[in-house]
Amino acid sequence: MRGTLIGSVVAILSLSFGGELSFPENWQTMKEVEKGVILRGNPLYGIVPGFHKTYMNETAYRHFREHFAAFKKGSAPPQFPEGAEIVFVNFKDKEGKTPRVILVMKKTGDPKDEGGWKWEGFLMPAKKRIVKNPAKDCANCHYRGQKDWDGIFLPHAK
Ligand code: HEC
Repeated sequence: MRGTLIGSVVAILSLSFGGELSFPENWQTMKEVEKGVILRGNPLYGIVPGFHKTYMNETAYRHFREHFAAFKKGSAPPQFPEGAEIVFVNFKDKEGKTPRVILVMKKTGDPKDEGGWKWEGFLMPAKKRIVKNPAKDCANCHYRGQKDWDGIFLPHAK
């Protein structure tokens, strides 16, 4: 019993401070901020073709609402605060019922994380991790070396 308890405390500590981003179990109750369709010809088509919706946790959403005008214009709003989590859900169907891939960015502010975000992708329904190298697999495309830009697109923000 005691061993199990210590084991789970260690597991919880390593989840909160450790390297890995956990699967966003609550994505369905997060705030939906946009949706769209990735068509053939879009560089994202290879990983997330078709319909998607983007969701935010409370921390991200508060920041998003506060700076909505800048997001809408696509100018550079202030950086998201630590703890902000943004989840991109790509669906197999047009109604948004069956997720195919779930992409996650979580702000840590840690310079060791690419752009101060942790990056992960989960293949559904197994939740298999797909990101081997966050810089190459994700951040290169999200940043493209732009100054004062936080790496977030939100092209259809509403
Ligand atoms: C080829 C470029 C490219 C690559 C590679 C890429 N993304 Fe994106 N990502 C985008 C674009 C463009 C959007 C906005 C798409 C839309 O909503 O139409 C986006 C949207 C997102 C969003 C929603 C927030 C936002 O910026 O709109 C998240 C979260 C995300 N991507 C995470 C990831 C993760 C994690 C990876 C690595 C597995 C990744 N992306 C790889 C280009 C890319």
